Amino acid sequence: MTYNFDEPIVRRGTNCVKWDEATNDKILPFWVADMDFRVAQPIIDALRRRMEHGVFGYTHVPDAYYRAVVDWFGRRHQWTIEKEWILYTSGVIPAIAAILKAVTLPGEKVLMQTPVYNCFYSCIRNCGCQVASNPLINDNGTYRIDFEDLERKAADPLTRVLILCNPHNPAGRVWTREELQRIGDICLKHQVFVIADEIHCELVMPGHTYTPYASLGEAYQRHSATCNSPSKSFNIAGLQIANIVVEDQPIRTHIDRAININETCDVNPFGVEALIAAYNEGEEWLTQLNAYLWKNYEYMRRFCEANLPQFPISRLEGTYLVWMDCRALSASSEALEQSLMDEAGIWLNAGAMYGPEGEGFMRWNIACPQAQLAEGLNRFLHYVTHKMKRR
Ligand SMILES: Cc1ncc(COP(=O)(O)O)c(C=O)c1O
Repeated sequence: MTYNFDEPIVRRGTNCVKWDEATNDKILPFWVADMDFRVAQPIIDALRRRMEHGVFGYTHVPDAYYRAVVDWFGRRHQWTIEKEWILYTSGVIPAIAAILKAVTLPGEKVLMQTPVYNCFYSCIRNCGCQVASNPLINDNGTYRIDFEDLERKAADPLTRVLILCNPHNPAGRVWTREELQRIGDICLKHQVFVIADEIHCELVMPGHTYTPYASLGEAYQRHSATCNSPSKSFNIAGLQIANIVVEDQPIRTHIDRAININETCDVNPFGVEALIAAYNEGEEWLTQLNAYLWKNYEYMRRFCEANLPQFPISRLEGTYLVWMDCRALSASSEALEQSLMDEAGIWLNAGAMYGPEGEGFMRWNIACPQAQLAEGLNRFLHYVTHKMKRR
């Protein structure tokens, strides 16, 4: 079946965070990370069947669910996992909160490559831990890891955990096997436990390959917990389903306890059905989606090169989130977010949300029909042309 990602779907008026939280209905949203595309037909069919049953009591997670996860990662990513290693919960952030609770003590440090997904910060603080940054190095729009800094910070006796974002939001990097191995070796050497957030792992652009961190080898797998979910890649974030894959049995028991203590041990029947359908029958849709996202990125890259040379964008290896350097405007990213909404009618995420290293940058979500992206870029161009003229 061929899917039409150009089809505009009205989301405004559906209690949609991305569209309905705008202050007026002229604003085009390119912020929160979900997609303006209809999901794969097998997911709709599975949800319809479940919905027509008409009873939505507490749900049991069946064997077919675990099989779908195990088969997917084995088939698609050559990562062999066992059913018993999987713990389900209601989201990746609840998953990370439970893992942090299980493996850290209050006051300990959690390392991450910054700028990075904003909820990691609150999650770490809510667990009573401290954020430790390993700032990424921006090499002409491609970010790389500062391994010397990472080693220094991992050696701090208070550093207990690294949250690895693979692929990285917002830098758009898909970490290579070599990079992952270097990160892993540093963490193993200094007994830093790795939480691999791999929620964006299916959104990978041509020429790049996602390597599950835990698939690097036994030692890496034993000292890590991987969080994944079909939520980003299959556009089902509202159904709130995610998994933690953790081989080490004592650690798994602690994490399972923490999921219960945090009261995030129940999932809903729609999330379960959607995950099974996505992993068993959604691959064709996903292939078409990635091709479309790449076309959108290429469109944006050409547009920016031709019209916005002072606003370089990052090379997109993975995710559908494009990181734009807006420092030419000399505005804080927060002020720019507001001003773009008020004056240009577009909503982007302020880079400073992801840490101080993101100041002056903006994040574009390009998972929308290309005509909408084109309109957003034109509005942005109009806005900056006007601003630059007045300076
Ligand atoms: C890296 C990363 N992790 C986690 C999440 C959120 O996951 P969830 O909604 O399952 O808590 C996001 C959402 O954008 C994300 O980018």
